[in-house]
Amino acid sequence: MSPDASPVTSVLFSAERIAARIGELAAAIASDARRGGHRDITAVVVADGALIFAADLLRALPMPVRFRSVKMSSYGGLTHSSGRVELVGPAPDVRGQHVLILEDILDTGLTLTALHRLLTDGGAASLRTAVLLDKPSGRLTPYAAEYVGFHCPDAFVVGYGLDHNGLYRNLPMIGELRHELR
Ligand code: PRP
Repeated sequence: MSPDASPVTSVLFSAERIAARIGELAAAIASDARRGGHRDITAVVVADGALIFAADLLRALPMPVRFRSVKMSSYGGLTHSSGRVELVGPAPDVRGQHVLILEDILDTGLTLTALHRLLTDGGAASLRTAVLLDKPSGRLTPYAAEYVGFHCPDAFVVGYGLDHNGLYRNLPMIGELRHELR
């Protein structure tokens, strides 16, 4: 396959659709923050997958935002099959802050469950979650995000931050990865 050929068989969410949806999410987040009397927001961005989503969403927010990125890792391996997900490195200081967790995809729910507990224990004043994609078919533990970009079918998706073996995060759209590249 030529390096210029598209790595996806179909586009699930185009760059234009993502941009439009991010505008809607930002408006909802800002309106809720205003209603809650929150003067600013602390975004906790789950690296690496959420970095592109965060870059676009945070720039669409009208209020002052500070952000921290965290890296989460499944215990002892690359998969989440062990059921344990832990923070890599020091916990961000969120005491007394209104926190918005940003994640590219909510799948098993293990990553966000672990991070939510950690930030609650860290004394966050309030905690909400925005995910670009929600894949309910993958859930191993219940987790509901307040802000969801799109519901994701049970497909092998890459692009806009989502990777396969570290590649394809830079695609501007989200698509289904070609079988021969898996
Ligand atoms: C992926 C994704 C989420 C997490 C979601 O991260 O970016 O962070 O898995 O899965 P869950 O709901 O099943 O816990 P990954 O560990 O692949 O790292 P990455 O963000 O660097 O791609």
